[in-house]
Amino acid sequence: MNEVFYVTTPIYYVNSHPHIGHAYTTIATDVFTRYMKLFGAETYFLTGTDEHGQKIAESAANSGIKPQEFVDKISQEFRNLWPHLHIENDQFIRTTDSKHKACVQQILQKIFDQGEIYLKEYEGLYCIGCERFLDEAELENGNCPDHQTPPEFHKEQNYFFRMSSYQAWLSEELMKNENWVYPARYRNELIQLLKNPLQDLCISRPKSRLKWGIELPFDNNFVTYVWFDALLNYASALEWPNGEKFKKFWPNVHHTIGKDILKTHGIYWPCMLKAAGIPVFKKLVVHGHWVVEGNKMSKSIGNVVDPLAMKDQLGVDGLRYFLMRDMSFGEDSNFTKELALTRYNADLANNFGNLMNRSISMSRKNFQESVPPPGAVGNQEKELHEYFAKGVQKCREYIVTFQPHRALEHVLYLSSKVNKYIDTCKPWTLTKDDKDRDRLGTVLYTALDMTRIIVGLLDPVMPKKMYTARKNLGLEQEVIRFSSFSPGLLEPGTKLPKSNPLFPKMQASNVDQDNLKNTQSEKKSNYSAPEKKDQIAIHDFQKMELKVGRIKSCRKVPKSSKLLCSEVDLGENYLRSIISGAAEFYSPEEMTGRLVIVVTNLKPVKLMGIISEGMILFSDDNGKMALIEAPDHVDPGVKVR
Ligand code: MSP
Repeated sequence: MNEVFYVTTPIYYVNSHPHIGHAYTTIATDVFTRYMKLFGAETYFLTGTDEHGQKIAESAANSGIKPQEFVDKISQEFRNLWPHLHIENDQFIRTTDSKHKACVQQILQKIFDQGEIYLKEYEGLYCIGCERFLDEAELENGNCPDHQTPPEFHKEQNYFFRMSSYQAWLSEELMKNENWVYPARYRNELIQLLKNPLQDLCISRPKSRLKWGIELPFDNNFVTYVWFDALLNYASALEWPNGEKFKKFWPNVHHTIGKDILKTHGIYWPCMLKAAGIPVFKKLVVHGHWVVEGNKMSKSIGNVVDPLAMKDQLGVDGLRYFLMRDMSFGEDSNFTKELALTRYNADLANNFGNLMNRSISMSRKNFQESVPPPGAVGNQEKELHEYFAKGVQKCREYIVTFQPHRALEHVLYLSSKVNKYIDTCKPWTLTKDDKDRDRLGTVLYTALDMTRIIVGLLDPVMPKKMYTARKNLGLEQEVIRFSSFSPGLLEPGTKLPKSNPLFPKMQASNVDQDNLKNTQSEKKSNYSAPEKKDQIAIHDFQKMELKVGRIKSCRKVPKSSKLLCSEVDLGENYLRSIISGAAEFYSPEEMTGRLVIVVTNLKPVKLMGIISEGMILFSDDNGKMALIEAPDHVDPGVKVR
């Protein structure tokens, strides 16, 4: 694949805190990006926040703070969350950015000058939740179907965009372009919607009613309708019309969205693009919704799932895997902790984890802690190689058609195949007699080599665990290449270091007990300066690995007044979560961005249910803690001597 891949998430409203639904869209987009990169594409991944409109102005007023201050705070929450979930976006856009505002005004003016925006008196029913006028036909018992609240009646002058004149064009595009919208049922939904006459779109709000928005460039008594403003983020982020990024990435733009915003993206957006003379997006990729124990997530029911709490329970990779594997992309899916644990244990602990553990430990034991030399290849191996050759291509096809659940199902099927191969070949019966040594080498080599391919295929979903997996296979330094996902490329003699199980089995009751244990260990943990101890020899000191790390984000650990959890870049392929007891002395914002010194080879410990993988060094400052910082020009990952 020698192409570019530009992918976006919806930009999230800042009137509520991030939840598992937002996390799902963003993780899915991250996973698509990582796979496309693996397949050789040059990628660009955009996310951000949607900060104007009545809903947000009202939330700010209810909190008693100015809208700008309010949006700054919640936008930062989204921005801080993503590194904790190992999201690697290239850009984070805010609709309050001045460049974005200027772009919206430029496009409005262009369409206005073309005569496609006009002023008229309008009366209608307005839903604040949807931030749009509703048709009578859309109402359910007089309420908005999505928000179950009655819309407000408004009679006012407003500007309208002649969207109706694009109806025939849009219908034709949808009919002729079968792959425009994934999965296909959402394309059908759009085709159905277009069977009714398309209304012109009201694109302004009078300032007498709403001030929090982008002023219309041709009439300063109005601000721009929030959806018209928000959708343009996808183009403004790349600096339409002349930005280098725009020229490079726009031709292959993909939007990942939830099904709730199909109409705005599938109807308003293409008409807006057509009017502005911007080529229409390449694909709309639509997913379903997570429901909780069968119910829609809602603040009033109190069932909104916090992604960080789930991450703390399952580990970031366990969470990413569950979200990608359990939701059939495009359909709704049920979120429960039990389902997540069942999935983790079945797929990761019992199937793939077991494959890794046993193939590594048998090889270590019988071949001087190294990858064995492969002996002659028989029919069983040939059959497995064929499965893998087809399987790897199949996974790629599933990903490029946006079916990550199928891709993962297939990878785990490959893992079962190798487990079955080991069970059939029974390498443990081949260890006694020297005449079986060649065969033993072949079986273990094949198992390790296939495991290597599976690790590569799982890497975009679980980058941190797969980094450890590669370390365990002695492949830490290897660059992962899709072209190397073919049999026989594992180097015999590669050292296999001693390793712990990659996915230890989890029990529902253990999770809670661990939390309890960790509360106690938090009490015991002592971050103040150590007492004076006996002197140590230099080689004792050298056992400790110290590295420079950049804190990419930081948050307070729930239910703890002392602990902060930082996501630290140590020049590895993933970020490490590190707990420090500095919450009384530093806010998460103050920690973020600092270049610090980290002890990187401490055994991981669990504190308040979170695994901490290192220690950030502080000095004592009259009873307070003061961060020890590295010089500005040093890169993360550099050793401290
Ligand atoms: N601001 C608009 C989008 C503008 S894009 C130009 C918006 N924001 S939102 O904060 O409400 O986020 C909506 C998105 O969050 C959905 O489209 C979906 O991607 C995600 N989810 C919100 N709830 C969800 C679930 N329960 N399940 C899965 N994803 C859901 O709409």
